[in-house]
Amino acid sequence: MAQRKQIFKCEVCGNITEVLHGGEGELVCCGQAMTLFEEKAAADEGKEKHVPVIEASEGGVTIKVGSNPHPMEEKHYIEWIEIVDDDTSCRHFLKPGQAPETFFECKNKNVSAREYCNVHGLWKS
Ligand SMILES: [Fe+2]
Repeated sequence: MAQRKQIFKCEVCGNITEVLHGGEGELVCCGQAMTLFEEKAAADEGKEKHVPVIEASEGGVTIKVGSNPHPMEEKHYIEWIEIVDDDTSCRHFLKPGQAPETFFECKNKNVSAREYCNVHGLWKS
């Protein structure tokens, strides 16, 4: 059963989708089951750093990927960064050449963050 905020990918066409309301059915694309992204964390880090770093500041939070800036090249970059709490999610999409970070204006600074690397998948802090 799919659950809210889970993210799935089609291994055939590359579609990526997020669940807004979980249901009993299996998510299918291009005739086969979609793959659930597991949220990776600090213990999964390799040479490149992906875990989002959250910095509270005046008026919001800055999210950086990661402790060493992640590459932002055409073939390997951070596609989006998201902040999440129980009731809210807010996502900023990035492009190659931009810095691997973004600022979210928000009152609640007790948030978690997720980011999606187009090569290394979904990461959470
Ligand atoms: Fe990466």
